[in-house]
Amino acid sequence: MTRFMMFLLAAFLMAEPCHAALKVIGKGESMTFDPSGFPPRMKSSWEIMKTKCVMCHSMERTVVSITTGIASVSGQPFDHNAARAYGFKMMRKPESNMSRQEIKAVVDLMNYMLDEAAH
Ligand code: HEC
Repeated sequence: MTRFMMFLLAAFLMAEPCHAALKVIGKGESMTFDPSGFPPRMKSSWEIMKTKCVMCHSMERTVVSITTGIASVSGQPFDHNAARAYGFKMMRKPESNMSRQEIKAVVDLMNYMLDEAAH
């Protein structure tokens, strides 16, 4: 019986729909992420990202880096480590005007998006 329950559980888990893949809207300079599928805990990070991360360049740069896994300017792999390193690099730029907490929120969101993009 336990085995059967395990089987049912496994079947149920496998039948769960895969996470909605990361969605992108717009083209070129106006390209951005579609936040409608983001989990509630990511909403405030998105608010920070969409205002602070477009002050020096458009969101296109971030969209391309995350969806292709290649940093759009340097051509280096854009993975979880790169997202963190990049976030803190931005924080050190005085013009970015971002706190450590804001950077952390945006790095968490980028990691979430990298996972979603991999589906
Ligand atoms: C102070 C201006 C400024 C702000 C604010 C800024 N960026 Fe950038 N970003 C740059 C510049 C300049 C580059 C070009 C390469 C470099 O300096 O790393 C860049 C490059 C990038 C790249 C490509 C990196 C590479 O190595 O190819 C990504 C991705 C990126 N930015 C994302 C973001 C995100 C996410 C945020 C918000 C946390 C952000 N940017 C905020 C100036 C900025």
